[in-house]
Parts: sequence; structure tokens; C-alpha cells
Amino acid sequence: MKKAHQPVLLQEVLKIFEGVELRVFFEGTVGAGGHAQAILGAHPEIERYCACDRDPKALSLARKVLEPWKDKIEWIHGAYGDVKRHLKTLTIRGIDGFLVDIGVSSMQLDERERGFSFLGDAPLDMRMDPEANLTAERIVNEYPEKELARIFFEYGEERRSRKVASAIVEARRKRRIRTTEDLVRIVKPVATRGRLHPATLVFQALRIVVNDELKQLEEGLKSAIALTRPRGRIAAISFHSLEDRIVKNVFRDAKKEVAILTKKPVGPNLQEMRINPRSRSAKLRAVERLE
Ligand SMILES: C[S@@+](CC[C@H](N)C(=O)[O-])C[C@H]1O[C@@H](n2cnc3c(N)ncnc32)[C@H](O)[C@@H]1O
Repeated sequence: MKKAHQPVLLQEVLKIFEGVELRVFFEGTVGAGGHAQAILGAHPEIERYCACDRDPKALSLARKVLEPWKDKIEWIHGAYGDVKRHLKTLTIRGIDGFLVDIGVSSMQLDERERGFSFLGDAPLDMRMDPEANLTAERIVNEYPEKELARIFFEYGEERRSRKVASAIVEARRKRRIRTTEDLVRIVKPVATRGRLHPATLVFQALRIVVNDELKQLEEGLKSAIALTRPRGRIAAISFHSLEDRIVKNVFRDAKKEVAILTKKPVGPNLQEMRINPRSRSAKLRAVERLE
């Protein structure tokens, strides 16, 4: 049975926004609407809730969950990195709260045909937004070997990145690599072996590049800092060290504009880890906008 998406660090997120008057809120990754439901429930003062996601399927699910608040919601199909442009279109000049909970959702992983998972067979796609141009298939079949090695090293932290890239180039000379199973078969014998499935890091790296995830995060957070009104708060949940580093650095570099609320990143408690294994690597960081 498909699992419903469970919002991670929900109590911790609510705590960040507790006592803050949230008239306008921007959620960059509304997904299944789990965090949105709780935030809207806890903050009846919200006048406009901007619910943004790249994935139209996520938006249609969120529409159902958030039906009771439909008059307050501005639906945005797009990338949260473009938050400035989205708010301009809505003629919104400032926000009081901003949240992103990045990465793939359980629904996206469960929809095998989208190619996010190395379990099972599917076309090598990995686009969160099906209208975007770049797919994982194009990357593995068309990028030069050196570029593939760089991608696996930088975004997957795969120690055997050059071997993986060379195996891919060797395989694609014979036949185009089309499916997740094709890729797993090529990568498995050469990738780093350890606790994780050997294709984990390669899949992570491809997903990051297909969806331009790190640039989205950096630009989204920088814009959020510029758009948030004094005493407003910005929170980000990330799932691996590359992302957490970006969140930490963007917040640290804005020390004239924000106060850090989380000296160390906040993680899940034991109970949440047991109930929702996806939460295990989650890290929450937050800041408050200064005057
Ligand atoms: C982990 S889920 C969010 C779950 C949500 N917080 C909830 O409680 O249901 C991540 C969502 O972010 C979306 N997403 C990832 N990167 C994005 C981006 N740059 N812009 C907009 N949406 C993005 C994905 O499509 C996915 O639906």
C-alpha cells in the first residue's frame, strides 16, 4: 500500500513560528500539505498563504487537504527559487514566514514511473516538474564523462565517481541507457559499497542536477531573507549534508539581517525516527528577520 506523506519535524516547525504574527506566509514545497495544514490551523491570523510546488500532482493533493482554508491560499505551480517573481505577480511586497522542506516526497518515490527510486524499473526521468526539459536520461547519455564524474563527486559525494562515469560511458556506447534498472546494473559493480544501496549516491546526484536543487535552495533562502518583514521567520528542512551546508552558510552570511534561532540544526526525536524513517536525516534550521 502507498504510504501517505508524513510531515517531518512538524512540532519543531510549529515551535519556530509560535507567537509570530503570520499575516502572509510562503511555503516553497507544499507537497501533500502536511505542514501547511498544521500552520494554517495554528495561525488563524494568516490572511494569505502562498502554497508553491513544482509538482502539479502534489498541488492537486494539497488542494484537497487544504480545502477548509481555500479562500486564503494562493496556489503557485513553480520553483520556490523564483519566490521574488511569484510574489511580484501576486503583488505581495513582504512576508512574515517562509518554509521549505526540500527533497523528494514519499509520493514521488512511490510513483515508480517517475524514476526517482532505484528500486524497481522505470524510465530515467527524475523531474519534479514534468514540464521541465532536463531528464536523468539526457544527463547519463549525453553529458561528457568528465562532467558525469564531477556530478557524482560533487552532488553524490561518491568516492568512485570516475569509475562510475567511465562505466556509464562504456555502456552507452553499446546502447542508450533508458531505465533505472539499466543504470543500476551499470553502477552497482563499480560504485562505493557500504551501508547504502550502491546506486544511492548516483541517483541522489542526478536528482540534484535534474532539479537544480542546490541553486534553488541558495536563491530561495537569499530571496526569503530579503522579502521577510522584521520579526518574521524563515525555516528550512534539509536531508543531506550538501543542503544543510548551504542553509547554514546562507544564514551565517546574512548576520546583519537575521538572528539565528537554531545554533545547531534540529533533528527528529526517537519516536519520530521510529514512525517515519524518512525523518532520520532531516535537519531544521531557522532565523528571525531583524529590524
Ligand atoms: C518533502 S516534500 C514536502 C512535503 C510537505 N512539507 C508536506 O508536509 O506534505 C517536498 C516537495 O517539494 C517539492 N519541491 C522540491 N524542490 C522544489 C523547488 N525547488 N520548488 C518547488 N517545489 C519543490 C517537491 O515537488 C515535493 O512535492
